[in-house]
Amino acid sequence: MAKTLHVKTYGCQMNVYDSARMADVLAPHGYTPSEVPEGADLIILNTCHIREKATEKVYSELGRLRLLKEAAARDGRQVLIGVAGCVAQAEGEEIVRRAPTVDLVFGPQTYHRLPELVARATERGTSGGSGVVDTDFPVESKFDHLPEENGAHGPAAFLSVQEGCDKFCTFCVVPYTRGAEFSRPVDAIEAEANRLVAGGAMEITLLGQNVNAYHGAGPDGRVWGLGALLRRLAEIEGLKRLRYTTSHPRDVDDALIAAHRDVDTVMPYLHLPVQSGADRVLAAMNRKHTADDYRRVVDRLRAARSDLAFSSDFIVGFPGETDADFVETLRLVREIGYAQAYSFKYSARPGTPAAVLNDQIPEDVKADRLEALQQLLNAQQLAFNQASVGGVQAVLFERRGRREGQLVGRGPWMQAVHVQAPERLLGRQLLVRIDDGRANSLAGTVVTGEMPRIDRELSSNAERAIA
Ligand code: 5AD
Ligand code: SF4
Repeated sequence: MAKTLHVKTYGCQMNVYDSARMADVLAPHGYTPSEVPEGADLIILNTCHIREKATEKVYSELGRLRLLKEAAARDGRQVLIGVAGCVAQAEGEEIVRRAPTVDLVFGPQTYHRLPELVARATERGTSGGSGVVDTDFPVESKFDHLPEENGAHGPAAFLSVQEGCDKFCTFCVVPYTRGAEFSRPVDAIEAEANRLVAGGAMEITLLGQNVNAYHGAGPDGRVWGLGALLRRLAEIEGLKRLRYTTSHPRDVDDALIAAHRDVDTVMPYLHLPVQSGADRVLAAMNRKHTADDYRRVVDRLRAARSDLAFSSDFIVGFPGETDADFVETLRLVREIGYAQAYSFKYSARPGTPAAVLNDQIPEDVKADRLEALQQLLNAQQLAFNQASVGGVQAVLFERRGRREGQLVGRGPWMQAVHVQAPERLLGRQLLVRIDDGRANSLAGTVVTGEMPRIDRELSSNAERAIA
């Protein structure tokens, strides 16, 4: 019977990927995706547990969905509500206790079992009983049980190559919610990449919680790192751009740096979180690198590819962070010069070592530091964007803009580029002259003609501007 599925995704790109795969798993069982929860037979919240705010959002959304479900029940229609992702993994049974409206709870490693879970939840819906909970870390890998993806992606697609994390930064829930590091074999990744490109993808972003810790089984029987994987994928005909996220500074090895030097398909933009610029804080965070280690990695990457632009994540107000520590973070930011960045107030997560540290920082101090850091980062981003003005970049058009006749794409450095252009250019990569650089985006005009390596020169200017 035809049914509709609505998946609402919170958090990281890995969740975006997982949500698409949930739809793939359920498609053979008669579920077609719906953009809105109204009228859907199955509603899944694919959740994020990284900070408290992200978790609370889920519970308030469940309150709204309960009303929707009750209204449907009055019309004699059964609606199932599922909670997936990292909140599901971390809180399990607690979710059905706190929100009895929830019919099924399943973690990031068990969604290949969705058809069975849905069948059990459907039964419980008619017979009563509590929600179905599956937060195993099964021995079988979900990747071996997922159907092929259905090809419903734009010109820029995601591909999950690695999952989980063994780093155990003391603030982070990921090692607990996503489990131990696991890398998919090269062959399976290559096959999926080929299908994505055949389905129209021109850009692929390789995903992993700690993606550059990738160590998958290669076709030659050896273990391959991310550098070798990138080189292999770059050979796929029609694939124009490769990106990967998120990386750990400790896992940047020579082969990865060489891939940035040699492989043009690998885009000159790298998200490389540092979290803090103070060694004392980095040690308490169990980051396993110092601020100088980070500086050296950035220098080596820039030596390999001078136009490489960086983004990062920062946490302010980690327990015990002093004003002097925070000043070290600002100093590091000034030295590196970021094209973009995310920054957060430290949020104590239950079960993580940092949550029970003494010296938790008061909210108002966190707020002041966050504001100061964001001011600096925003100024760097604006300078980076303004330095692009007058140059020409290759832009891959991904979607319609908000304004009539507007298209939005991304340049090599992940900047969103807005142009006025006919819709038939969607899904194509074209040269754009940049006319305006704003806080969060660029505006430009499509130009025609050959593009040599103007890109690289341009970006060195951009780097000088924020140095
Ligand atoms: N509090 C605040 N920010 C956090 N992050 C991870 N855990 C926490 C936490 N407990 C941030 C880190 C990470 C990003 C994905 O989220 O900066 O890189
Ligand atoms: Fe979390 Fe990243 Fe640290 Fe792993 S490396 S524990 S995912 S912050």
